[in-house]
Amino acid sequence: MPACGAESTPGRHSGAAVTWRGQALHVLNYNHGFVSSFRPVPNLVEIRNLHFSYGERSILSGIDMDFPRGQVIAVMGGSGSGKTTILRLIGGQLQAGAGTIEISGEAVDARNAKRMYAMRRKMGMLFQHGALFTDLSVFENVAFPMREHADLPDDLLHDLVLMKLHAVGLRNAAQLMPAEISGGMARRVALARAIALDPQLIMYDEPFAGLDPISMGVTANLIRRLNDVLGSTSILVSHDVNESFSIADYVYFLSQGKIVAHGTPDAMRASADPYVRQFVHAEADGPVPFHYPGATLAEDLGLSAEAQR
Ligand SMILES: Nc1ncnc2c1ncn2[C@@H]1O[C@H](COP(=O)(O)OP(=O)(O)OP(=O)(O)O)[C@@H](O)[C@H]1O
Ligand SMILES: [Mg+2]
Repeated sequence: MPACGAESTPGRHSGAAVTWRGQALHVLNYNHGFVSSFRPVPNLVEIRNLHFSYGERSILSGIDMDFPRGQVIAVMGGSGSGKTTILRLIGGQLQAGAGTIEISGEAVDARNAKRMYAMRRKMGMLFQHGALFTDLSVFENVAFPMREHADLPDDLLHDLVLMKLHAVGLRNAAQLMPAEISGGMARRVALARAIALDPQLIMYDEPFAGLDPISMGVTANLIRRLNDVLGSTSILVSHDVNESFSIADYVYFLSQGKIVAHGTPDAMRASADPYVRQFVHAEADGPVPFHYPGATLAEDLGLSAEAQR
């Protein structure tokens, strides 16, 4: 929270009753629970019997997942197993074919644009290939969601952005342009942007990809710390077993459209399940498929059954 000398804490109240530096704040409703109709449930996000296909191609087939409040939950699985798809379904960018996703007891419905807009204000997302806006400074990148979703006076916005950048150790980089910072720093700026609106739910898609080991550790610690400080719930999609296991409370393994294993990191490390073992011990051979599904090589090369023998 900003050290703003306000009579009330910004973000915890709404309407003109809240003042800050002597000014009435007209819209400060960016941080008070999803909407009043939300009922308190232990799981912030609940997924039941979720099915999703791209055209004829089934991607997710009957998935159940719980994301308890306050926890960091890792979702792991091979490339193309549907991890990003799950995040996009939770964010309402895709519509489920069947099954339900509830956030604080309210159903996600991608077709209801107005409701999704309100729900997304409470979600922060670090995209898999999410670059910063290259023609905006670090400061303006973090300010962007605040300008989009909350009508804040300039000096409050300024303090809030600096607090977010401070949280990721980059307050002094506020005036730099994205081209002037390293890849690891850019990831942290994206993180500050993802938490700009103090989200209840933070989704990270491959936050460690392309980072050196030190930046990876820093990012992992930040994810855990931001989750705990903000009292959020975090969904961490990653291939990286060590970093994910070091901060997650619970792990789901996804393969070929299904949850094949789930449990605490310790339980997963001790698991005898061949899929989990392959993943945790980074073995090349095992049930995790290497090839994108489809025709065999022999079929593509037009080899006859006889020639294959
Ligand atoms: N827009 C799309 N149209 C058709 N198929 C898609 C589309 N986006 C993704 N897919 C397919 O859906 C499957 C799941 O994709 P998804 O991006 O969820 O995988 P992922 O688990 O996040 O993989 P990675 O670890 O490589 O990021 C993949 O086989 C992919 O080819
Ligand atoms: Mg992905």
